[in-house]
Amino acid sequence: MLRLQELTKTYKTGDQALKAINLDVPKGQVLALIGPSGAGKSTMIRCINRLVEPTSGAVMLDDTDLTKLGSGGLRKARREMGMIFQEYALVERLTVMENVLSGRLGYVGFWRSFLRRYPQSDVDEAFRLLDRVGLLHMADKRADELSGGQRQRVGICRALIQNPKLLLVDEPTASLDPKTSRQIMRLITELCQERGLAAIINIHDVALAQMFVPRVVGLRFGEIVYDGLPTGLTPDKLTEIYGEEDWEATIEKVDEDEEIEAAE
Ligand SMILES: Nc1ncnc2c1ncn2[C@@H]1O[C@H](COP(=O)(O)OP(=O)(O)OP(=O)(O)O)[C@@H](O)[C@H]1O
Ligand SMILES: [Mg+2]
Repeated sequence: MLRLQELTKTYKTGDQALKAINLDVPKGQVLALIGPSGAGKSTMIRCINRLVEPTSGAVMLDDTDLTKLGSGGLRKARREMGMIFQEYALVERLTVMENVLSGRLGYVGFWRSFLRRYPQSDVDEAFRLLDRVGLLHMADKRADELSGGQRQRVGICRALIQNPKLLLVDEPTASLDPKTSRQIMRLITELCQERGLAAIINIHDVALAQMFVPRVVGLRFGEIVYDGLPTGLTPDKLTEIYGEEDWEATIEKVDEDEEIEAAE
């Protein structure tokens, strides 16, 4: 469904963030993209929906090469790709409901959205989504009154109300505590399953990725150095992806967290 062919990005500064990446993501598959800081994870996600312009290569979404689209075509194609960010990117002074509905901007046209007149069907869907993520009672709260986990749930609803085929998720849990991080990862992966959505989830927490996704892609210096099952990520493989680091220690720490959670 999504196919990256020789996808390359060299920034003006000369940084080679992606080096001829080839990657296939089948319909409905959720994968985690891991790798050290600067490996090119965000660049890859952003090149797919062209928030960053690729230098060369193709991004095939079904039969369309997104790198070839003009602004009208790109606007339509972006409806198919929901984006979820680390920093949530909510509009602080708007309500939860309004933030969710803003996900429909690609559909309703400028004036209707400016006047905030969304079709009733959109409003109904927003209520359904908020209910699904456990925030129905918060629909009228302002975004700046929410906790980090609640904000990310709103971000998830806003991405899903676009009715995308693919979710592009950049460090969804980086600002959250460990327990909330697990809840958010669980929610994202469950929603993908319910809706048959494919997703690429950038995540630096390896143990968290291993808990929730069936496929892990490891990026280092703009190249794919691992693509396989989460269980195949041996300490050696992790060292290959991240360089020298004490992985045993990281994993033990997560086990402790789990025990604390279980005891609660
Ligand atoms: N706007 C930019 N201009 C120039 N270089 C950039 C820009 N954005 C990223 N880079 C460079 O491209 C490389 C990849 O960066 P990217 O942000 O994609 O990494 P990342 O894997 O998402 O890292 P992190 O885990 O820290 O978010 C880095 O060397 C970075 O310095
Ligand atoms: Mg990043």
